[in-house]
Amino acid sequence: MRLTTVAAIMGIVTLAAPALAGPKEGGEIYETRCKMCHGSGLANAPLIDVLKTFDNDRILAALTTPVPMMAGVVGGLNDEDKRNIAVFLSGKPLTASGAHPEVKAE
Ligand code: HEC
Repeated sequence: MRLTTVAAIMGIVTLAAPALAGPKEGGEIYETRCKMCHGSGLANAPLIDVLKTFDNDRILAALTTPVPMMAGVVGGLNDEDKRNIAVFLSGKPLTASGAHPEVKAE
């Protein structure tokens, strides 16, 4: 197969893939960046069941001004990531705010 053909097929696959945004994406970030502590209560991290009782503001505050233990995992996240995680955990939607689009709860 010629390289241009491969590139064209990959382009189509990329376009066809559903946009990864919203609580689903937040859940994937939780799996890779948060579960190691919040899944087991490591270092007294509140368990995910406790985080799920928090509202979006409290979760966003924890991600905006993280405790030192969390600073490393939160550093690479952008505002959209944080909003997606908050909705994933709280189960409550976020309305659009400034440049940030609405995040619907699933
Ligand atoms: C290295 C372990 C660790 C990782 C990884 C981690 N956290 Fe935490 N987190 C903690 C600890 C410990 C606390 C408790 C801090 C305290 O109350 O002093 C905490 C507290 C929180 C709180 C509660 C703050 C409050 O208001 O009480 C939220 C929300 C939270 N983490 C979300 C997250 C999210 C989302 C991620 C992934 C992006 C994450 N954490 C990754 C250790 C971790």
